[in-house]
Amino acid sequence: MFKILLREDLVPNIHLFKIDAPNVAKKARPGQFVVIRIDERGERIPLTIADWDENEGSITIVFMEAGTTTCRLATLQAGDYIADFIGPLGLPTHIEKFGTVVCVAGGFAVATIMPIARAMRNEGNRVISIMGARNKDLLFWEDELRNVSDQLIVTTDDGSYARKGVVTEPLKERLESGEKVDRVIAIGPSIMMKYSSLTTQPFGVKTIVSLNPIMVDGTGMCGCCRVSVDGVTRFVCVDGPDFDGHQVDWDLLFARQRIYLEEEKLSLEQWQCQCASSL
Ligand SMILES: Cc1cc2nc3c(=O)[nH]c(=O)nc-3n(C[C@H](O)[C@H](O)[C@H](O)COP(=O)(O)OP(=O)(O)OC[C@H]3O[C@@H](n4cnc5c(N)ncnc54)[C@H](O)[C@@H]3O)c2cc1C
Ligand code: FES
Repeated sequence: MFKILLREDLVPNIHLFKIDAPNVAKKARPGQFVVIRIDERGERIPLTIADWDENEGSITIVFMEAGTTTCRLATLQAGDYIADFIGPLGLPTHIEKFGTVVCVAGGFAVATIMPIARAMRNEGNRVISIMGARNKDLLFWEDELRNVSDQLIVTTDDGSYARKGVVTEPLKERLESGEKVDRVIAIGPSIMMKYSSLTTQPFGVKTIVSLNPIMVDGTGMCGCCRVSVDGVTRFVCVDGPDFDGHQVDWDLLFARQRIYLEEEKLSLEQWQCQCASSL
């Protein structure tokens, strides 16, 4: 059993848990993830390692309430336990001195990109970060990301804070200005990663995305996380989650992410009914 050491509500539907998991903390690297199961009857879901402390033996995860399991997870408090917490899984993000690296984060992925931006900067890169959310109330960790970046640009879709628009706009301007960009890392909702990749493609800037298909075992056994990259079948849990965004078959990814929409909706409704009847 894995104890929740700390809970923070970053915005109303995005939460941070610090989990006591010394064996995972010993080996964690930027870009890796864990697979968790709340209890023995729960489903397994993947969550990115947002931070870790080897001395404390803790792992930080940040999750958004998306459906049954993440909504159930959000009911837990510091002091509660999670049944399974497996990791670190996946290949770490490739960190190297590239020159100028632009880190683009959409929504909760600001937490996902944080260890990558930090590691890129520690490696001697100039890091320009762009973070965006639908509105002001959904933004978090602005100061934290600024602290690990040489420059930070913030956008909100509705203009309720900072620059109005989506993250691909400042990304495109940067590239059009002729400023040399050596690598782009784009993490967030799949649609945002697709459009970030389409934005950089004409400029020939290699763009790494962190794919988020449905996963089950997270160890390459079930085939559930199958994607097509450069025409080749890859399993995100063991070959990724990072891939070249210019080579991803985005339509296949979107289609496979939607496979269980009906069941997910039903599951959430049933869980909400159970909660209401137990009040
Ligand atoms: C490598 C990886 C890292 C991730 N990191 C984070 C993170 O740090 N924070 C975060 O909030 N979310 C993260 N996700 C997405 C997270 O796993 C899903 O939001 C979660 O599984 C949804 O489960 P649910 O039961 O709450 O919702 P559901 O109603 O079951 O699903 C909502 C949507 O989430 C996706 N999803 C459902 N089940 C899974 C599953 N087993 N694996 C992956 N996606 C699924 C589907 O697209 C689905 O339409 C990550 C996904 C991957 C693959
Ligand atoms: S989650 Fe089963 S093969 Fe990747």
